[in-house]
Amino acid sequence: MFNLRKIDESRVAKISNTRYREYYHIQTPGGWLNDPNGFCFFKGYYHVFYQYHPYSAEWGPMHWGHVRSKDLVHWENLPVALVPGDPEDTGGCFSGSAIVKDNRLYLIYTGHHYYEDGDQEHFWENQNVAYSDDGIHFTKYDHNPIIEAPTDNSQDFRDPKVWQHGDQYYLILGSRAQETNRARILLYQSDDLLHWQYKGPVAESTNNQLEGSMWECPDFFRLNGQDIIACSPMGIQPQRHRFLNLNQSTAFIGHFDYQQAQFIHNDLHLLDYGHNFYAPQSFLTPDGRQIQFGWFSSFDQAMPEQADGWAGALTLPRELILHDDQVGTIPAQETELLRVGEVINTTKIINRSHQFTVPDPQHTEWDLTFDLPDYGGQVSWQLANSDHALIAFNYDQGSGEVTVHQHNQETDRYASIGHPTQLQVRIFVDTSSVEIFVNNGAATFTERYYTNDQTLINTIDTSKPITTTIKAYNLGMKG
Ligand code: FRU
Repeated sequence: MFNLRKIDESRVAKISNTRYREYYHIQTPGGWLNDPNGFCFFKGYYHVFYQYHPYSAEWGPMHWGHVRSKDLVHWENLPVALVPGDPEDTGGCFSGSAIVKDNRLYLIYTGHHYYEDGDQEHFWENQNVAYSDDGIHFTKYDHNPIIEAPTDNSQDFRDPKVWQHGDQYYLILGSRAQETNRARILLYQSDDLLHWQYKGPVAESTNNQLEGSMWECPDFFRLNGQDIIACSPMGIQPQRHRFLNLNQSTAFIGHFDYQQAQFIHNDLHLLDYGHNFYAPQSFLTPDGRQIQFGWFSSFDQAMPEQADGWAGALTLPRELILHDDQVGTIPAQETELLRVGEVINTTKIINRSHQFTVPDPQHTEWDLTFDLPDYGGQVSWQLANSDHALIAFNYDQGSGEVTVHQHNQETDRYASIGHPTQLQVRIFVDTSSVEIFVNNGAATFTERYYTNDQTLINTIDTSKPITTTIKAYNLGMKG
């Protein structure tokens, strides 16, 4: 009855060294992880799936790894949900999303297929369904595939995001048109999740250098009555301080016209300004918050943990909000459940450089508030080992720009946040990652760091005396 294909447990990659293993982020039990998939709430649990290659710390034939949680921060590993190799997914079970209908959990995912073994450049893609009644064991639908690519499409045709609107189901896909080579989002409609009608492209890039040539991992959600399509464009060219990563994670705000099958939208903007964020997906929680996870890396990044038998992690759950007409993120309120002890709580005037040491510095949340009335200077926070800065955050009130430096990266990352009179920064440090949330959704930076020297020093620096509130909490896995 269930999908009988199983992984070969004896071949699963083994963790040989725990030095970079995260404490409180989703990661594999061994093997490679990329995109988050199928985020949903089903029968009392949040479920998150992820692109998974169990047999090595390299990208390979994609499976869906699976974890669940009651509270979005304490996760339980479950058996691998989707294993590739059936006729509908010969080369991999690529990214997709989930939806609950009539007490049944449906996963809609991309089947990836190679024309020839050993040639990864030439492939074709289709869309498939798997379902579960217990949220643990999945059956692939026996009439897969449910969607084949339209004839005017290139080979890129993947990453379905499904949602319900009225009594109908809708699904969007990331794709690239064959003739024009433009990125586009394709729309499908269904009344049973199994039979889908093609409605055409709802959005298309007008300039591949500015908007990308393929929009991977589309996401659809609503914030404050506005419709939003988020996607991960490949091929955007750097524009001064923006779009410096190989691939980006972006959002368009607009209006989704279901009748005309059109998405009228503003220009795209970045969802995260850091070096290590890609392919995010979100989901509307039962209490009405749109929560997002991203992949804590991307294909062009070095991943020193590969030497230890694993690669990649997911970010913390983040709530999506609108901030100054852009989509921003703040830590989901559940992240407070990770606090196991307050280690600093003080308000003082900081003048120049001030060092802080905390117990267990690799598992700490920093909550910093700088009062900046009429202050034209700079403030910074940095995490350093005894040799060099690992991650350095700097805000320059003159230019209104935040800069984040990551050791080992050739270029810094930037975001313009204007001239607020108060700067609030929440920073989550885990064993090999740092997430920096600036002014409640104004900018978020997702960064990884690697150190074998655990004597870490935190420094807060100001170019003039300013009143600063500093709170720090140790984070862990209580309960
Ligand atoms: C994005 C992506 C998706 C694809 C998956 C394959 O990182 O390339 O488009 O479904 O990864 O692992």
